[in-house]
Amino acid sequence: MTVTIVGSQLGDEGKGGVVDLYGDAVDVVVRYQGGDNAGHTVVHGEETYKLSLIPSGAVRGKVGVLGNGCVVNPETLFEELDALAERGLDPDVRVAERAHVIMPYHRVLDGIEEDAKEGLAAGTTKRGIGPTYEDKAGRRGIRIGDLLDPDTLRERLEYVVPQKRALAEEVFGVETDERFDVGSLYETYREYGERLEGMTVDCGTYLADRIDDGDEVMLEGAQGTSIDIDHGIYPYVTSSNPTAGGACVGSGLGPTVVGDGEVIGVVKAYLSRVGTGPLPTELGGVKGQTPGYDPAGTPAEQEELATYIRDEGGEYGTVTGRPRRVGWLDVPMLRHAARTSGFTGLAVNHLDVLAGLPEVRVGHAYELDGERRLTMPPTTERWGECEAVLRTFEGWPDVDWAEVAAEGYGAIPENARAYLEYLEEELGAPVYAVGVGPGRDETVVVENPLE
Ligand code: GDP
Ligand code: IMO
Ligand code: MG
Repeated sequence: MTVTIVGSQLGDEGKGGVVDLYGDAVDVVVRYQGGDNAGHTVVHGEETYKLSLIPSGAVRGKVGVLGNGCVVNPETLFEELDALAERGLDPDVRVAERAHVIMPYHRVLDGIEEDAKEGLAAGTTKRGIGPTYEDKAGRRGIRIGDLLDPDTLRERLEYVVPQKRALAEEVFGVETDERFDVGSLYETYREYGERLEGMTVDCGTYLADRIDDGDEVMLEGAQGTSIDIDHGIYPYVTSSNPTAGGACVGSGLGPTVVGDGEVIGVVKAYLSRVGTGPLPTELGGVKGQTPGYDPAGTPAEQEELATYIRDEGGEYGTVTGRPRRVGWLDVPMLRHAARTSGFTGLAVNHLDVLAGLPEVRVGHAYELDGERRLTMPPTTERWGECEAVLRTFEGWPDVDWAEVAAEGYGAIPENARAYLEYLEEELGAPVYAVGVGPGRDETVVVENPLE
């Protein structure tokens, strides 16, 4: 059977932790989209693992597959494998031959295109994700399989690299270097091809065979529904489909196979956002990210709440240390996510972060043009015009969360349970797990889909 893990919001909901939580009974963990723009955290005991490309199941020694829907930077792949090896892990990682390769010029172009976009910039991770998916759709991409075939690799490079060089130099006026040089790229990527030998798979066939053999497969989504290229807040999105449909296309398993399993929506109990664009339930703001942010015009109470949640939740960029934007839960956003992916269960994380607040609010609905609506409008501009209609819940106390996790669902403070039950009702899916801290043991497990 399969279990698909999908982010319900804007990424960083705690997907890595959920993959790890249920990972014991799983044999294979597959990433089906995205690349090293992701950052998934697995905390076990004293050890914290941050993985950007390798599936989170690696921490438990499971086979990890980078599916055909992924964009793979071989440099990151081998760096991550080496870093894990230094920590005593030797994960068995397979890479789909149909997956596309992030080339050095993609990273350069991601940077210069973002700078040129100004107001429309998504605040990308500059890992070359967008430009690589563009080339995939433009049928000029280089795939993992091409790295194993020197003649094809050279042919592809000779076609595409001059175009990229012209784009950088003539459109953007940027000087180019060896990252736009056919000979140099050929040498480096041939070497990656040699290192990849023995690791590559025909993803769909490989997974179908494993399922036929009775293995359990977990499909690990990266990013989240509201930054999905089709269903998210375009253009402030990533360039792939984190939603459950992406799990089929990006792995080669059919929709009936994925749909026959479970689809777990991962929800952070509040909202956090890296990047630009509107955010109707935002509290306070962050300069450079919140559109039109004016600290002087924002109520002090909102700023205090934002700072509290940001500090309690550690909502600061892992690399840059920049504060993330935070807000109350946006329930229309979650209804949209539940429908788009067909959630069969929910994992609600970070309940501990909100503990101690006298009241917890959620954006239950929006008001738009004087009318109330329960789901997101399809354009981001209209979404930006939505006013959140808030609903207030009584707060819950800060308690010994490890003890709560050990005792089970009934030990969760009553007001927090009311919050969870409201979400179950609104999203039409039961809560399977509740995160009350970052560690594997700081999770209340209500249901294990694999048992
Ligand atoms: P992902 O990208 O969805 O895998 O999430 P990230 O790993 O980027 O971000 C989630 C962060 O929150 C990580 O630092 C986790 O260790 C942490 N985390 C996950 N679940 C919980 C939780 O229930 N409570 C708290 N306090 N932290 C959590
Ligand atoms: P995980 O898997 C949060 C955001 C970027 C930017 C937009 C486009 O850890 O949840 P990209 O580099 O993908 O072209 O950037 O998407 N973004 C994420 N935000 N979590 C992520 O991944 C993200 N991956 C991309 O900040 O706004
Ligand atoms: Mg993350």
